[in-house]
Amino acid sequence: MELIKKLCETFGPSGREESVRKLIQHTVKTYCDELKVDALGNLICRKKPRRKAKNTSRIMFCAHMDEIGLIITHIEKRGFLRFAPVGGVYSERCLAQRVKFESGIVGIIGVETKPETPKPPRLDNMFIDIGARNRKEAERLVKIGDMATFYQRVEKLQGRIVAKALDDRIGCYCLIEALKRVKKNKDELYFVFSAQEEVGARGARTGAYAIEPEYALAVDVTGTGDTPQSPRMAVALGEGTAIKVKDSNFITHPFIKDRLIQYARKNKIIYQLEVLEYGTTDASVIQIVREGALSGVLSIPSRYIHSTGEVCDLGDVEQTIRLLACSAENGFE
Ligand code: CO
Ligand code: ZN
Repeated sequence: MELIKKLCETFGPSGREESVRKLIQHTVKTYCDELKVDALGNLICRKKPRRKAKNTSRIMFCAHMDEIGLIITHIEKRGFLRFAPVGGVYSERCLAQRVKFESGIVGIIGVETKPETPKPPRLDNMFIDIGARNRKEAERLVKIGDMATFYQRVEKLQGRIVAKALDDRIGCYCLIEALKRVKKNKDELYFVFSAQEEVGARGARTGAYAIEPEYALAVDVTGTGDTPQSPRMAVALGEGTAIKVKDSNFITHPFIKDRLIQYARKNKIIYQLEVLEYGTTDASVIQIVREGALSGVLSIPSRYIHSTGEVCDLGDVEQTIRLLACSAENGFE
């Protein structure tokens, strides 16, 4: 829980993953043989085979470090900051929320109140108030191009957890825990903590190009169909790890899907099958780099994705770690 809290509360919008990367680097260094940071900022952790086998392959596990954010585009005369989204920021989830810059400056999101303001308001009807009295004061605190992220504490809700950036720090957590548990892998394993997923899986692309994996598994959050009047979706919180079958940019290789189900059954890991009709993950890119990789995704069901209060179930997290560790240990041959 302490590590999840740290991961979620650390600042790391797309392209500004340094702090998250440092935290992960520090946590995993004793569990892998080689650590590398590439030009995009991916953290690539390699674990050599720990037992002899006829066939060894390269397997890439991937979770993204970045979270959605806001970038300052303009500073107004009275010191209010205008902003644009970094990744998929929903305007209705921004209203009256707190944000924080890397420097520690905190702000609150306000909205124009003229009658013509569309309902719900768009992001360009909003501004960040950092308490500055005028442009000069604001410019001393924040520069054009500075990024902010949502700012919220992590809280436990029964066996569940609410936090900003569970997308995808909870995936990073699963990778870290799986890496710790893997003892006798026969394959060459690469645990990749990727950069810039929220702006189009950019880190996953260079990571996969360098590693040239035969198999790949991404770990990310997915939506659910279990809240009042939610979209129809057969995924619910607390029903186990979700083995993805399809999302808007990705179809899981049937061999990988079947193997994951087989591992889950054998080890009594609770799972559900996921078809996501909107959104995608790093796997959509990893799958088609170079000559391609047989790819799949383990998803952690999550409510209110891309808000200051994403919610997931710690039981689902544990099931995800178990299936991930089992896959890493035994591979996909
Ligand atoms: Co996301
Ligand atoms: Zn994500």
